[in-house]
Amino acid sequence: MPDSTYTTRNLRKIYGEGPAAVQALRGVSLEIPEGEIVVLLGPSGSGKSTLLNILGGLDRGTDGEVFFRDRDLAAMSDKELTRYRRDHVGFVFQFYNLMPSLTARENVELVTEISRDPMDPGAALALVGLDKRADHFPAQLSGGEQQRVAIARALAKQPDVLFCDEPTGALDSTTGRAVLHVLREVNEKMGTTVLIVTHAAAQAGMADRVIHFADGDVREVVVNTAKCSPDDIEW
Ligand SMILES: Nc1ncnc2c1ncn2[C@@H]1O[C@H](COP(=O)(O)OP(=O)(O)O)[C@@H](O)[C@H]1O
Ligand SMILES: [Mg+2]
Repeated sequence: MPDSTYTTRNLRKIYGEGPAAVQALRGVSLEIPEGEIVVLLGPSGSGKSTLLNILGGLDRGTDGEVFFRDRDLAAMSDKELTRYRRDHVGFVFQFYNLMPSLTARENVELVTEISRDPMDPGAALALVGLDKRADHFPAQLSGGEQQRVAIARALAKQPDVLFCDEPTGALDSTTGRAVLHVLREVNEKMGTTVLIVTHAAAQAGMADRVIHFADGDVREVVVNTAKCSPDDIEW
């Protein structure tokens, strides 16, 4: 059994109080092994983003345990949680979240300037195939290219884990596959644990492990013996 990047036990998340309370996570217990590509698959509203935000230190659970390696995220102060996020975690969201007034390189530099052991911004852009576009502004790039800049920005701090929340949700098949190729390459070349949240079942094929999620809990975990190429994913 490989070491786990994350272990949760009976993790619950309740938003709001009283009659308006929403149980987003209903006692989730799971393991995310080091160095894998894990796809978290489930319908809209099933709690995927909630889980990812708690693992990534953007939010806290209501109760239950969440460990990053041997560190208990629930026991961390806000300051420690911020430091954990800064040192260990990269995020990629559906709508890129680039600064429109900054070039691709400058968007990446926002992160490298505050990181402990950053990559060269140009090298991060080369990794996603955009070194020649470093001086372009987001509006001069396609959606897929903007998402690759967002991946370069997330990677440039050399995180242990890359969290991707519906990373291809706004993309067509060609640019979406290019983005998935980049994620696979990052996993293979840098050994980064990659967690992809999606409601698109076809993307499960490229994962080492698929966590099927429904109604705030894990329904099934499937370990893929053979992974497919992003090129073979139906859109
Ligand atoms: N900040 C919030 N306040 C209240 N309810 C929320 C909040 N965020 C998510 N929810 C609710 O929690 C449930 C799970 O949401 P979410 O984790 O976003 O699901 P998914 O990412 O699978 O679509 C949904 O019922 C959603 O409406
Ligand atoms: Mg979501």
